[in-house]
Amino acid sequence: MEKQQFLEDQVKLPSPVFKEVQDYANSRDFPIISDQVGQQLQIFASFYQYPMVLELGSGFGYSAMWFAQGMSDGELHLCDFSTENIHLAYDYLDEIDKSDLIHSSHIGNALDYFNETDKNFDIIFIDIDKLYYLDAIKIASQRLNPNGMIIMDNLFFGGRVYLDDGKKKRGRESILDSIEFLKKDPRFFISMIDIADGLLLAKLK
Ligand SMILES: C[S@@+](CC[C@H](N)C(=O)[O-])C[C@H]1O[C@@H](n2cnc3c(N)ncnc32)[C@H](O)[C@@H]1O
Repeated sequence: MEKQQFLEDQVKLPSPVFKEVQDYANSRDFPIISDQVGQQLQIFASFYQYPMVLELGSGFGYSAMWFAQGMSDGELHLCDFSTENIHLAYDYLDEIDKSDLIHSSHIGNALDYFNETDKNFDIIFIDIDKLYYLDAIKIASQRLNPNGMIIMDNLFFGGRVYLDDGKKKRGRESILDSIEFLKKDPRFFISMIDIADGLLLAKLK
């Protein structure tokens, strides 16, 4: 059995709603985080007393549902281009009794949200189009609370990051530049995790 499959098989979903959302994502061929990543998000959120979580690229809320599992209090801030996705996110979080955690939802380019709020965050989760990663990382790195962290999904970009197949060059470069940008910033501890499509963690020291 493949290592990743073994890991996925060990996951116990917090409620049947998670399976419902997965099935819906599959039916639309819509990319959502893996359950392994979800479990990490849940754990990271649980480290903070009043977690301030900002998602850039919420889709219809699957990653937010995992964050919410690790939160008894705190704030979830969602961003997505799609109004329909954000509405679904409210519905799904409602189904697991966690919609009260949603403090704002921004519809439009996630990067614009930083101009609309003066809040800072404990966790900024980045799961948007890869072309925007570098710009997102640059802004997010200035908007963390002490002890805060950036979590970047799709670090491997389906393998393109380390196996240059000549396709989606700009997305690949944006991810590589994001890694370099964070490595050069002495304020951060960096860690890269080999689960699913790869996670990059950058936590303030
Ligand atoms: C991979 S999906 C997010 C999945 C979600 N994080 C989850 O795991 O449940 C990416 C989402 O980001 C949105 N998106 C991509 N680029 C964006 C941007 N610059 N601003 C806002 N939303 C963006 C897309 O509309 C899409 O819904």
